Amino acid sequence: MTANIYSSVQINTPSKIFICVNTPTKNYGVGKGRAADLKYIESAARMIATVSTKSKIVVEKSTVPVKAAESIANILKANVKPGVKYQVLSNPEFLAEGTAVKDLLQPDRVLIGGDQTPEGHEAIQALCWVYGHWVSKDRIITMNTWSSELSKLAANAFLAQRISSINAMSAICESTGADVTEVAHAVGMDTRIGNKFLKASVGKCPVVVIDTRMNSKLKKISVMVVFQDLVAAVSQKDVLNLVYLCECLNLPEVAEYWQQVININDYQRRRFANKIIECLFNTVTNKNIAIFGFAFKKDTGDTRESAAIYICKYLMDEGAKLHIYDPKVEEKQLITELTHPAISDDPSRVKELVTIHKDPYKAAENTHALVVCTEWDEFINYDYEKIYGSMLKPAFLFDGRIILDHQKLMGLGFNVITIGKRL
Ligand code: UGA
Repeated sequence: MTANIYSSVQINTPSKIFICVNTPTKNYGVGKGRAADLKYIESAARMIATVSTKSKIVVEKSTVPVKAAESIANILKANVKPGVKYQVLSNPEFLAEGTAVKDLLQPDRVLIGGDQTPEGHEAIQALCWVYGHWVSKDRIITMNTWSSELSKLAANAFLAQRISSINAMSAICESTGADVTEVAHAVGMDTRIGNKFLKASVGKCPVVVIDTRMNSKLKKISVMVVFQDLVAAVSQKDVLNLVYLCECLNLPEVAEYWQQVININDYQRRRFANKIIECLFNTVTNKNIAIFGFAFKKDTGDTRESAAIYICKYLMDEGAKLHIYDPKVEEKQLITELTHPAISDDPSRVKELVTIHKDPYKAAENTHALVVCTEWDEFINYDYEKIYGSMLKPAFLFDGRIILDHQKLMGLGFNVITIGKRL
């Protein structure tokens, strides 16, 4: 029975091409710094139109502004070969870095948007069939293309908004004596709110490739993937994109609302850096500061939009000497981030101020302060007695991720400062 359903769909439906290209923020022209750059999407669509000799279902998997599917459809239509027909579906990606395979195999939901026409419904069903191989039916949601495109931006904006909300609370906590972890726990116990994404804290590839390295399961169901990178980072960029969309739609109040989510994110980084400077007697010039963690979150080497970049920038602006250790981030990547024109206008100064270490204990030696910027598990179990012994006194520890045992560290002699709680 199952085999029959599979084979009938296989024979009767066109093959599917997934477009999974990067959609970075535009760094030129109209919408610079906010709009998504769709040049890779466009070149993928043009390439599909050039090579397709049979009808195709083109699946937009990249995070795109609402109506990008329409642009893809227009490009395909304008370059269509005789006898070829296209359906364009929106099937946004919800993978998070560090858990991508689990998210793929056990997704919260799979979203498929398409034209509300008989052909569109057929294409939607064909893609449902693909996911039906490992995802249960009740987790596959279908809708119109625009709802699907907007849902992706909305989901990332809601996630960013939760972090900005709890980070805004953390500032109130520090001024009042409340503890943000306790507040988050109390708020998250409300089942209407839920307890995920409530952790206060300090605040992704060109050249399109048609990948024919399909695994046997995908081969069987004839899926082709046009890809660059399959996971992207959250996503100030997606919120910026949403802000830009609202402005283009002449919805200034809505744009301002989402812009504030970004502003709080920036404020949190600045606030944390200011606190470091203030605690170190209002000057960090020529002081050695160890930075633990440079990735934007644990279990990834990705540094895009990482809070650590900005903490390092603010400290370098004040002339601090940074000793950076991250278990996964490559030295080249780290230097590229810190020498980006938006971060430093003088690469030789970065060279002068930054030392990259392969050993966290060496990074902490002879420093005035240690700053935790990423929540790597290994940081929790370091020998902090040894670290304290090797640091200059008074030794400061700034826990930007609220992961360490603060009482124990204070017992060792550290001055501990964290987010959302006065110690
Ligand atoms: C995010 C979304 O979670 C994915 O669903 C989405 O598919 C993906 O963006 C995308 O659009 O590419 P990801 O970028 O891997 O995934 O990162 P998140 O897990 O969302 O974390 C983002 C940042 O928020 C990290 O720096 C993390 O440490 C921080 N965070 C997360 C907090 O500060 N507090 C929290 O409670 C949760």
